Amino acid sequence: MSDTAPSDPKSHEYFDVWDLYEKIILENSMRHREVIDTIGQWSPYKRAGKTRILDLGCGDSYVVSCVHDGGDDVEYTGVDLSEDALAFACKRLEKTNWKLNFIQADILKALDGFKGTFDLVIAGYALHHLLDAEKEIALKGIRKLVAEDGAFLIYDMMPRDGEARDPYIRRFVHDVENVWGALDDQQRRETRKHIEENDFPISPGQWIDLAKDCKFDRHELLYRDENAFYALIVFA
Ligand SMILES: C[S@@+](CC[C@H](N)C(=O)[O-])C[C@H]1O[C@@H](n2cnc3c(N)ncnc32)[C@H](O)[C@@H]1O
Repeated sequence: MSDTAPSDPKSHEYFDVWDLYEKIILENSMRHREVIDTIGQWSPYKRAGKTRILDLGCGDSYVVSCVHDGGDDVEYTGVDLSEDALAFACKRLEKTNWKLNFIQADILKALDGFKGTFDLVIAGYALHHLLDAEKEIALKGIRKLVAEDGAFLIYDMMPRDGEARDPYIRRFVHDVENVWGALDDQQRRETRKHIEENDFPISPGQWIDLAKDCKFDRHELLYRDENAFYALIVFA
């Protein structure tokens, strides 16, 4: 496993044609609706005054756009490698009053370049693309960017504690092939290939241990689906 970011990550290629992932979101195959409801009900999310948000692997910025009011005083920075995803994000958020900043870059490289802090750093279904050593580099970078009374929110694919990658990926692919409604056969094959080649999820317990090593003091598991595919954890 490498200690540095791959010079040319391939994890974004599946998302270069955003329409396919958009179908997955709209069908709620990856529980975006529950994630949005949970974040919306999490009281510290809506802060008085200005909110500076950093969204890593933002995709089309759908989740943040659903939780926050377009009129809120938000400074939003979205980072993604996919030009197509960023174009969708830009179109979605240009209707708001927010101050927008989109960066087409690898997450690990972008984390090094920020000055100042954010009230909220969000990473949704993005950090599982990183190898384990890269996840640690990312969390250390994120820790430095979270403001004193801010938080880091991660929602992602997360196996059961103690479940290895292979059985989890087999369970996940079974779900994609037998339960997800939105995809045709070709799209199912592409999705399976993307998952098998690019996804390296770790469990809630592993994220919590890693976050402790990276100097996050507190955590709360806000959401876990009944099949133990996904989870949402907040760190501060
Ligand atoms: C599954 S989508 C998630 C999008 C959105 N955050 C959501 O919650 O639905 C993963 C996103 O991460 C981006 N991505 C994957 N690896 C990346 C990397 N190393 N650096 C930046 N973006 C990356 C992809 O291009 C894609 O838009």
